[in-house]
Amino acid sequence: MLSRSDFIGIDDTTHLCAGGEAPMLRSHQSAIEQFTHDKAMGEMARSRQADIIEATRTQCAELLSVDASDIGFVSSASEGINIVAYGLDWAAGDNIVIADVEFASGIYPWLALQSRGVELRIVKHRNWQISLDDISAHIDNRTRVVLISHVSMFTGQRISLPALSKLVRQSNAALVLDTTHAAGVVTVDASLADVVVTSCYKWLLGIHGTAVFYWNRHRLPQLKPPFLGWNSVSAAGGWQQPTQMSLHPDALRFTPGNPAFLSIYILHNALNTLLKLGIDNIERHALSLTGQLWTGLASLGGWEIMTPFDEPSRAGNICLMTDRVAEVAAALKARDVLVWGTYAGDARLRISCHVYNTPADVDICLQALDDLPAR
Ligand SMILES: Cc1ncc(COP(=O)(O)O)c(C=O)c1O
Repeated sequence: MLSRSDFIGIDDTTHLCAGGEAPMLRSHQSAIEQFTHDKAMGEMARSRQADIIEATRTQCAELLSVDASDIGFVSSASEGINIVAYGLDWAAGDNIVIADVEFASGIYPWLALQSRGVELRIVKHRNWQISLDDISAHIDNRTRVVLISHVSMFTGQRISLPALSKLVRQSNAALVLDTTHAAGVVTVDASLADVVVTSCYKWLLGIHGTAVFYWNRHRLPQLKPPFLGWNSVSAAGGWQQPTQMSLHPDALRFTPGNPAFLSIYILHNALNTLLKLGIDNIERHALSLTGQLWTGLASLGGWEIMTPFDEPSRAGNICLMTDRVAEVAAALKARDVLVWGTYAGDARLRISCHVYNTPADVDICLQALDDLPAR
């Protein structure tokens, strides 16, 4: 895998929070330099930038096991989910199925549809887990969308994508999958979904400004781009016929203006690194570390572990529900251990293991928790 020295700023840190924000690869400096040079080339910069876009689409296609033409770039995963909310035609009586432990951006985009008679159906977790049976019980012939995170940011649960896809495809609903906590750390077959969104600044080792948007256009051709601009089209009528144009036939139609080129250059370098390591190898590495962490926490005792232990139901996050956040925050800070949730003062702590983490990192974190005064 990689080491701390492949990244900037984590030499003296036990960085266990890739699920919140990953550090920057040192090699991103060359990608930034490349962008600055290309940007100085005037009109020629556009063809360099177009080459990087195409190369990055190809990498995303490999990452997600889909066709490159179905890959587009939007500004954030949140924008991607809003594209579905505003890009489908809704009718009163339609419904959308989501989970109570879903990330806010998987919930809020649908709220405005309620005033048009669209129902939001919320699947409740049981013991922090969302079950396929409970999802199934909420779907009927008016369900238009099922939105689920492949790996939960809140609980760490990884849901079986083949089983979920099979279930949703027995209905008329589209499966909208948020793979922000899956892509880059476990294998993802996006073709099993209808739309996939992924942030790039966590497990994909990129930065903000770009999110991956997969559109399964053969299964969901009715999805319209809610915003249009010069970049949405493959042909334009110009001043003679200013309102004439043809939308890009593929997922590029969802990017109305210039995309965030710099963050795509950086994503290109990040994906080069991840794909060279091999997602299968990364998954084995992450599962080994989260297995070590889970077992260690269980043997410490006294921690409510939200994430399931079995490997198919887990990825790179181990989440804990605790009322000891302030204590944990102080203990970890004293040892330069970074996890997620302490800063925000959440009751839920998330500890993430990625390509630069080692068994020694997990031991340091476990030791810090073990050294907390007993209750
Ligand atoms: C499941 C999930 N989706 C998306 C995001 C981030 O979305 P965005 O790219 O809109 O910032 C997060 C951030 O924590 C997340 O946990």
